[in-house]
Amino acid sequence: MNRVVKGLCLGVGSLALAAGYFIVRPPKMAPPKEIRVAMTPETVARGKYLYEVVADCDGCHGERNWGKQLAPVVRSGAGFTFPAEMGLPGKVTAPNISSDPVAGIGAWSDGEKLRAIREGIGRDGRALFPMMPYQSYRQMSDRDAEALVAYLNTLPAAADQHPRTEIDFPVSVLIKGAPAPVENPVPEPADRGEYLVKMGGCADCHTPKDKGAPIAGKELAGGEVFRVGKFTVVSANISPDVETGIGRMTEAAFIKRFHDYREYQQTPLPEATQRNFTIMPWLQFSRYSAEELGAIYRYLRKQKAIANKVTVHPES
Ligand code: HEC
Ligand code: HEC
Repeated sequence: MNRVVKGLCLGVGSLALAAGYFIVRPPKMAPPKEIRVAMTPETVARGKYLYEVVADCDGCHGERNWGKQLAPVVRSGAGFTFPAEMGLPGKVTAPNISSDPVAGIGAWSDGEKLRAIREGIGRDGRALFPMMPYQSYRQMSDRDAEALVAYLNTLPAAADQHPRTEIDFPVSVLIKGAPAPVENPVPEPADRGEYLVKMGGCADCHTPKDKGAPIAGKELAGGEVFRVGKFTVVSANISPDVETGIGRMTEAAFIKRFHDYREYQQTPLPEATQRNFTIMPWLQFSRYSAEELGAIYRYLRKQKAIANKVTVHPES
């Protein structure tokens, strides 16, 4: 048997063993926290900023108008079923997370909401598909996570019903290894830029993947292809490489790149075309202050420079 085939067999063998192990074992989980979050105007406002800007929850959970450039959110938290052309391993829905008690999560306790967001466990104890970025949200500070839940409690009810997520075997079994309880307390972050990059899912889009796993050595180097409807967009290289990344961009130019989209918050958006189509959350992130964008820039500039030339708007 040549080495390649042997390696493959070993790989499949250990996958089957791992699958067997996880089939009988529930995901790692702790009971939901017994907590009622503070519903003050300050916590709700902080939660709204986290929901709309920092974590862009509606990027997945909102109903969006894909016919317009930047695909604006039309109904917050109403849920979205990902189209088949995205090539996900099964049928995936980012559920209705509005306060509707039946279609949404209005009947969940605050502790159950916190656990789903940071620990990846559904109300019924199942492992959530880790496209829901709970592995990053684990590092969301207690103060921020509780503020987020306070805002979720105020999200207007949307009655939309979506099909439940159904992940294909063996991924359905392997994802049981993703959830884990959060060790409390989770303090405020030391590096604001690092925190915003984590919460904003920059690497989820800007690091290219092979079968769903980030490719080592290509961190933040772009090149991940996104197809939505008839349009295609490719993520940019945001590593500090001088030729192909953001190595030549000054901090001021970086901030301007985002703030230029502020005018789109007032004016009607142009129709989406192959030339302008993007899923980069420009509308959301343009709301960041210059200080916050500066912190993001300085964090990105400390990462490894990786040469990778990308055409973000391919001809077809
Ligand atoms: C990249 C896409 C994505 C982003 C961003 C995202 N989610 Fe999710 N979320 C999902 C998907 C997909 C699921 C469903 C997973 C499953 O069913 O296994 C989910 C599940 C959930 C659930 C469990 C709901 C249920 O009915 O089981 C909650 C609560 C939730 N998300 C809240 C949030 C909040 C709050 C944010 C922002 C801080 C957020 N999500 C950001 C994709 C996303
Ligand atoms: C949902 C996917 C997605 C997320 C999340 C995302 N990006 Fe992007 N980003 C893209 C795509 C696609 C492009 C290329 C198209 C464009 O420029 O709009 C892009 C372009 C950019 C550019 C322009 C680069 C250039 O050379 O002009 C910058 C800067 C950038 N992203 C930074 C970030 C940062 C910082 C974050 C996290 C805070 C982030 N992105 C999160 C998809 C994403």
